[in-house]
Amino acid sequence: MKKLYIKTYGCQMNVYDSERMAEALGGQGYTQVTAPEDADMILLNTCHIREKAAEKVYSEIGRLKPLKSANPDLKIGVAGCVAQAEGEEIMARAPSVDLVVGPQSYHRLPAMEEAVQAGQKALDTDFPEEDKFEHLKSRPKAKRAPTAFLTVQEGCDKFCAFCVVPYTRGAEVSRPVAQILTEAQDLVERGVREITLLGQNVNAYHGAGEGGDWSLAQLIRRLARVDGLERIRFTTSHPNDMDDDLIAAHGDCDKLMPYLHLPVQAGSDKILKAMNRKHTADSYIRLIERIRAARPDLLLSGDFIVGFPGETDADFEDTMSLIREVNYGQAYSFKYSTRPGTPAAERDQVDEDVKSERLAKLQSLLKDQQIAAQDAMVGRDVTVLLEKPGRLEGQMVGKSEYLHAVHMPGEGAQVGDLVRARVVESAPNSLAAVPLHRL
Ligand code: SAH
Ligand code: SF4
Ligand code: F3S
Repeated sequence: MKKLYIKTYGCQMNVYDSERMAEALGGQGYTQVTAPEDADMILLNTCHIREKAAEKVYSEIGRLKPLKSANPDLKIGVAGCVAQAEGEEIMARAPSVDLVVGPQSYHRLPAMEEAVQAGQKALDTDFPEEDKFEHLKSRPKAKRAPTAFLTVQEGCDKFCAFCVVPYTRGAEVSRPVAQILTEAQDLVERGVREITLLGQNVNAYHGAGEGGDWSLAQLIRRLARVDGLERIRFTTSHPNDMDDDLIAAHGDCDKLMPYLHLPVQAGSDKILKAMNRKHTADSYIRLIERIRAARPDLLLSGDFIVGFPGETDADFEDTMSLIREVNYGQAYSFKYSTRPGTPAAERDQVDEDVKSERLAKLQSLLKDQQIAAQDAMVGRDVTVLLEKPGRLEGQMVGKSEYLHAVHMPGEGAQVGDLVRARVVESAPNSLAAVPLHRL
């Protein structure tokens, strides 16, 4: 058996893709290992979203290079969004790299692996015509973790002025309903009880199904009928693609969890326009009101960018006001990072120290909201899907319906069990609970 080590950066779609690549190379006789020193093939599945993310790849390649002197048969490959954006440059800059493969070409990995074994270099950053998912279809039967990702949509047509995704992942494509149902069924047979549907723009999903194209809400309602599948989540959404049925599903589809990641990026209409977001602060706030009317206990999460070109103190204050008005249970926030080839990279930039100052203020407000939301859970009952044993003897950890990390005494419960539990304590990043009964 040859040994494969994959290191995954970036978003959940990369996590999903790494699993598919491991399966594809499994067909070439590879098993996965957890240390790069043991590997015959190392794949870095990379992210290009911010400058720091992309730089990590080159330093990692530098760190791995000595392993090639220890094992002359070792092959190093770069996959993911940096591979797509800078494939040729990687090959030129890093001679230790044997293989570069973009996200739309993973089904071609087995052939590329054979080429590198024959001593060639392999580079594929095409956007092929053929259906990648159809070719990647393998049906492993081994038992697996109770939660899984399932990519249903890929790429993006929105072209936010800061973002590389439309370039690295290509145009928006939805997988057909039948293909998704088969994959979901397989996952459930392998012990999966919670599926997170993935897409860069997942709520723009419009896959071919019976009677025409299905919306994400239709897909979720169909998946909710799969026996043994207990929980459904989806990420990441764009505010403009939250249709009425998807909002309603948050209220009437029991298996759809009360957690929504709905990035707004900024609270100033001037900046939102410059970002090409095509929504206003007010339209976003009204949308949140409608979703909360359907599901009052929804935990809302978001993404924010500070220091986008042209952002003044007043614009930044608009973002702070929006955060105060919406009140987030959880959020991600970033300093704007110039990305080559995107429209905003050409504009006048905000000073780095201004960005840092704004980010600190914004993160402090978001942190306060997150802690308040967590503290408000104490005394409430939640349902926890157990994912693994905890750090302490007999302890189990899992996720609440709101995606809080929860730990509790196991009392004989197993990984994959759903346990009703009472929250007794709130720590900054987790909740402690006592089990009430198993469901
Ligand atoms: N498809 C998703 C997420 C895309 S990337 C969406 O549309 O929301 C995840 C997050 O990274 C974005 O929501 C944004 O907040 C952030 N991001 C993207 N490009 C960035 C850049 N150039 N600089 C800083 N943050 C960025
Ligand atoms: Fe990027 Fe999301 Fe905007 Fe698409 S919608 S361009 S993925 S931030
Ligand atoms: Fe990064 Fe590509 Fe995901 S740029 S965030 S890995 S889509």
